[in-house]
Amino acid sequence: MDLLHSVQLPPLSTSGVRQKMQAGGNRTLRPVLTQPDSIVDSADMPTSMPDMLDSRNWFSPIPENRRRAFNQGQRQGVRIEVNGKEMVNFASNDYLGLSTHPDVCRAAIELIERHGAGSGASRLISGDDPLYHRLEQELAAWKGFEAALLVGSGMLANMGLLPALGNRHTTLFCDRLNHASLVDGARLSAAHVVRFKHLDIKQLKKSMQKYASERTLIVSDGVFSMDGDCANVGALLKLAEKYDGLLILDDAHGFGTAGKDGRGLSSVNGAAGHPRLIEIGTCGKALGSYGAFILGSSEIIEGLRQRLRTMTYSTALPTHVCAASLAALHVQQDGTVVRKLQQNVALFRQLAEQLSLPLSPSSTPIQPLLLGDDHAALQASGTLAQRGFFVSAIRPPTVPEGTARLRITLSAAHKEEDIAALTQALAEVMN
Ligand SMILES: Cc1ncc(COP(=O)(O)O)c(C=O)c1O
Repeated sequence: MDLLHSVQLPPLSTSGVRQKMQAGGNRTLRPVLTQPDSIVDSADMPTSMPDMLDSRNWFSPIPENRRRAFNQGQRQGVRIEVNGKEMVNFASNDYLGLSTHPDVCRAAIELIERHGAGSGASRLISGDDPLYHRLEQELAAWKGFEAALLVGSGMLANMGLLPALGNRHTTLFCDRLNHASLVDGARLSAAHVVRFKHLDIKQLKKSMQKYASERTLIVSDGVFSMDGDCANVGALLKLAEKYDGLLILDDAHGFGTAGKDGRGLSSVNGAAGHPRLIEIGTCGKALGSYGAFILGSSEIIEGLRQRLRTMTYSTALPTHVCAASLAALHVQQDGTVVRKLQQNVALFRQLAEQLSLPLSPSSTPIQPLLLGDDHAALQASGTLAQRGFFVSAIRPPTVPEGTARLRITLSAAHKEEDIAALTQALAEVMN
């Protein structure tokens, strides 16, 4: 059986609908929407639309084991209060504990007092500020790239980047476990999408031989968000070179956590600044703030300044958010919090191993414990909550069917005794 999954995603077009309606010669007829004619120009709309508020169910029913709910909790560092109960939070991406760092908070407060709460417009209208340029320059220099471009969030970065680069002459080779933002970015692009088995370089090679096109992009998470394992950046870059393409690496979870000084996965692999590498990082995880950035050559970044619709048509990040990110970057560069995080990860793994917990092969702060069954994961998460530990049960569709898990994330802000108590509780819950 051919394990390769190849999908040609159609570009969005309205012309088919128009043609069908015109051929029918009756503009009051309701168009039958078939792919790729999924957008209708309002001029083509029939004058009377059916009542939307009728008895039809606009969403397919959600089984109870897949239902998601907001966990209304007040966070204070790694402590979180949910329904009046205080817990230690092992479910956050605030890996370095910087969201509450005094320097970071002070920087944001100062800027909010000077500039107000919001930026007021997109950067290309009147929402730009010298602070954005400073943050971009410092991020690019720290990460070892020529240039950077700030974007509202990681989701926006990926949903803009892949359509900006992927036209109908492009093939995107995507790891099957890529983050949803890369999946949706690929869907929004006009490119041909080929998925390969998670981390399987052999299968990627085969599929590149089979589907190589004029424009080739390999698309992968760096540190994978639900598994904590890492892409083989060197091998991916070699393949990008061989096929005269580019590698798009989303290292949202590697920035601040991977490498001795937390510069991320590309620095570990000596790939930072490679002309064929475009990297995405976020400010909402290890930097404890909000927003995202894309790194690349000056030429690529200038191209994106012209073409990244999710930047062009979206209000710029508030300056106080960027001030917080810049302050957090400076704390990260000092190295103390990165070392503490890495010690905490090592401690967790050492204690978990002693207790024979079924660890996954992850050396990052994302430490999943696979349970398989949705109910088992929910139950384990509930029991941990009763014992004072906040750990998320991650279920499909966030992860593949049959791989529901506890996603434990470590932070530099955890104390050794928090980690020891968690592993003890996990041993009781898992046995
Ligand atoms: C790999 C990856 N990319 C992008 C994002 C989205 O980033 P943001 O939360 O800034 O939208 C996430 C968020 O969890 C992620 O895990």
